[in-house]
Amino acid sequence: MCGIVGYIGKNNTKQILLDGLKELEYRGYDSAGIAVLQNGKFSSYKAIGKLVNLKEKTSDFITEGFAVGIGHTRWATHGKPTELNAHPHIGESSYVVHNGIIENYAKLKKELMSSGVSFLSQTDTEVIVHQFEKNIKSSTNAFEAFSKTIKELDGAYAILLTTISEPDTIFFAKHGSPMLFGRNKDGEKYFASSDTPLMGQASEVNYFEDGDYGYVNESEIFIFDKNKNKKDAIYKKISQNKLSAQKDGYRFFMEKEIYEQSSVISDTLMGRLNDEEIVFDELDENFFEGINEIKLCACGTSYHSALSASYLFERYAKIRTSVEIASEFRYREPMMQKDTLFIVISQSGETADTLETLKMAKKAGLRTLVICNVDNSSMVRLADATILTRAGIEKGVASTKAFATQVTIFWMMSLYIARIKNTLASKEIARQISLLREVPASVKVSDEMHEKLKRLSKRYLHGHGFFFIGRDIFFPLALEGALKLKEISYLHAEGYPSGEMKHGPIALADPELFTIALLPEHLHYEKSKSNVEELSARDATICAISSKEFDKADDFIAISKCKDYMLEFFEMMVVVQILSLEISIRLGNDVDMPRNLAKSVTVE
Ligand code: AGP
Repeated sequence: MCGIVGYIGKNNTKQILLDGLKELEYRGYDSAGIAVLQNGKFSSYKAIGKLVNLKEKTSDFITEGFAVGIGHTRWATHGKPTELNAHPHIGESSYVVHNGIIENYAKLKKELMSSGVSFLSQTDTEVIVHQFEKNIKSSTNAFEAFSKTIKELDGAYAILLTTISEPDTIFFAKHGSPMLFGRNKDGEKYFASSDTPLMGQASEVNYFEDGDYGYVNESEIFIFDKNKNKKDAIYKKISQNKLSAQKDGYRFFMEKEIYEQSSVISDTLMGRLNDEEIVFDELDENFFEGINEIKLCACGTSYHSALSASYLFERYAKIRTSVEIASEFRYREPMMQKDTLFIVISQSGETADTLETLKMAKKAGLRTLVICNVDNSSMVRLADATILTRAGIEKGVASTKAFATQVTIFWMMSLYIARIKNTLASKEIARQISLLREVPASVKVSDEMHEKLKRLSKRYLHGHGFFFIGRDIFFPLALEGALKLKEISYLHAEGYPSGEMKHGPIALADPELFTIALLPEHLHYEKSKSNVEELSARDATICAISSKEFDKADDFIAISKCKDYMLEFFEMMVVVQILSLEISIRLGNDVDMPRNLAKSVTVE
């Protein structure tokens, strides 16, 4: 999704903008650009493709002394990924960058065009800068024109605008898309879509609320809320540790993040396990009082972890649980009962569809909880309560460690509710807590396993599709395995419940149909095995993952003998992640930034 950076200061503005954009690469983009206002003159550069192209274009451009700059990575929504459509967009004497969607842009564009304004791009964003320049003609100053402009926009946005008449100022507005402001003791000012570009630059940051707008100049910041009331910035310290955001010698961030799962799960568990109970300090003692049902809502990988939760919640906590895809839920006029706890799950905490459902639930008066990896994200700020997954920065577009920590939280939560509702014997809760302590070890990647998957991957680069199959909680894992593979290999893959194959998909069975079969020894083994045998009998190529030898498999990946199906779940999760990674590497794809995808989907 688009990323924004801004800078006011005396340092090397060009480099600061390019470095900031680099930190936002993980959000996904197809073009990039910067505009710098220095000594009363604008310079702007844009390039399609990776940032290295923009870097090349700006190689002769030097910024020295005080300057104001804005930069943008664009993920196309309106108009193709071309240089003309890349941001910043120019008016007569101003530049704008924008993340989000201006829903009424067609109407505004028509009006502007009928008054003689010509447009260079096909984007919705360009209307902002022209509307601003139209308004400036009837305003006493640039800020008045900017405020008028913001009020005329419908949709979601994070906007930065600079104009020649205010050469030390950046105008900003935030509504529905993320943006924060940072500063340091040298008086430098920064804007960005997320924390990462500001680490090591700013010492403290202010997260804007929806509806905030205003301006920042060399000496001060003015923020107004949606009701035009002036408000103060609320500064928080920002972590300066960038190390964790680097690749640490791994080929890809995704690979590093798979290997990190053991330590981040330890972090997720830290302080939350007693011998006999789960402790969530972030939840009020009475948080579950009066709750008779749980509704989980999310997108993509987070949706898959929510599906896993539904098995655990009903099995252990005996609480009615339903799971919703956020983009569907928000438009289907759903029934919402006050005794339902509404849980949203999101790595980023910014996914537009999920955020919207959280707003709906709040409006309907439901108690809300977010399971999230990013503190201070929009969802965290909105929900009644938050449980942070503590996975650390996840840069690979294909989510891995976020999923692992989400499922860990849900397993803990099912035991937490089970204790409150008295649905599991204390001895069983204690047994499962000791199993939870084994998860960090169960997700450790052995060299032997990685080597085996690397070798095996060369046999799975063709064919007419993959089916990942599993039963019970292994069905969401099958869905997640298939999503991982299709995201980064661009091969067709589906996740399916093993028992459902005979109701249609088995018609596809032939040697070119690859079945990745999840066969946990401790959960419905015999049933799952017969489903795989049905496929094997029809000549499908079977790659079985299990701790039990399976002679009908063409390829067999052995996981270790575990005490419980949940430990098998975590071991198999690592196997499907690495298998996808190795297939993608062999196909020569960009593992961390797969085509057409964005890390944080902040438009619907
Ligand atoms: C996962 O690999 C994805 N790229 C994607 O499905 C992601 O999980 C989804 O967009 C939801 O994101 P969130 O967890 O940040 O809300």
